[in-house]
Amino acid sequence: MTQVDLERAVDEAARVIAGARHVVALVGAGLSVESGIPPFRGSGGMWTKYGEPDMRGYERFLEDPGKWWEARISRQSTYKELVDALEQAVPNEGHFALRELEEMGYLKHIITQNIDNLHQIAGSMTITEIHGNRTKLRCLGCNRRWDLDGFPIDELPPHCPECGSVVKGDTVMFGEPIPRDALDECIDQARMCDCMLLVGTSAVVYPAAGFAEEVKMGGGVLIEVNPNETPLTQLCDVVLRAPAGESLPAVAARLRDRPS
Ligand code: APR
Repeated sequence: MTQVDLERAVDEAARVIAGARHVVALVGAGLSVESGIPPFRGSGGMWTKYGEPDMRGYERFLEDPGKWWEARISRQSTYKELVDALEQAVPNEGHFALRELEEMGYLKHIITQNIDNLHQIAGSMTITEIHGNRTKLRCLGCNRRWDLDGFPIDELPPHCPECGSVVKGDTVMFGEPIPRDALDECIDQARMCDCMLLVGTSAVVYPAAGFAEEVKMGGGVLIEVNPNETPLTQLCDVVLRAPAGESLPAVAARLRDRPS
């Protein structure tokens, strides 16, 4: 996309956002690429490099949660590169632009597929983590969540102090159902949404990608923020074919300078 086209698309995106009632951002790994976290698909993607995990991750956890926890405690991970990047990452300009859109009252909610906790570190407040959060733990029985460093792990697997069920990392494993509370929040937000920003997602994983389709079918507008095409591009009304760390701050700047 030429710079002129991008400028025009940024203007259009700002105009659409300013006129919308309930803007929601659907976020994927691409937003955190500029924070040094590799994506999953496409060039440099973890699954491109190491192959996509099978859908039995959760089943294996349930078969022997103690074994899973031992591996976790001894930091044995197939994806060490990803774990290291997650531990060192800090938010980038794209994260801060989403926070600013929220503070200005334009962005009502973030549905993120990212487990990296960078939205919170950037200061965003209204977030649903559809795939969980790597800095948290969750009870399989009552769905309670704890910050990792606030939960004493004195047995493997750890158990919930309230209901006694097994506790796991909050990150949703392959084959694990999306926690009900998170899914319900996403469904509500998609229902209220009349303008959805698709930020750095390849839009191939469901139910997340399905929320964008629902917004479109409900007469809403889609804005894609991605240097590459996705299966949802043809449904999008505005396309910012550039990195999120570049295009989102430009959109925020347009809205900041808008006469009130
Ligand atoms: N800015 C914006 N988008 C970017 C950038 C960038 N700087 N760099 C790459 N992208 C785009 C890519 O073009 C791609 O479309 O980000 C997308 C990343 O796609 P995926 O790696 O498939 O990530 P995501 O869509 O979040 O994957 C969904 O799949 O494996 C599961 O649980 C995992 O949450 C993940 C889910």
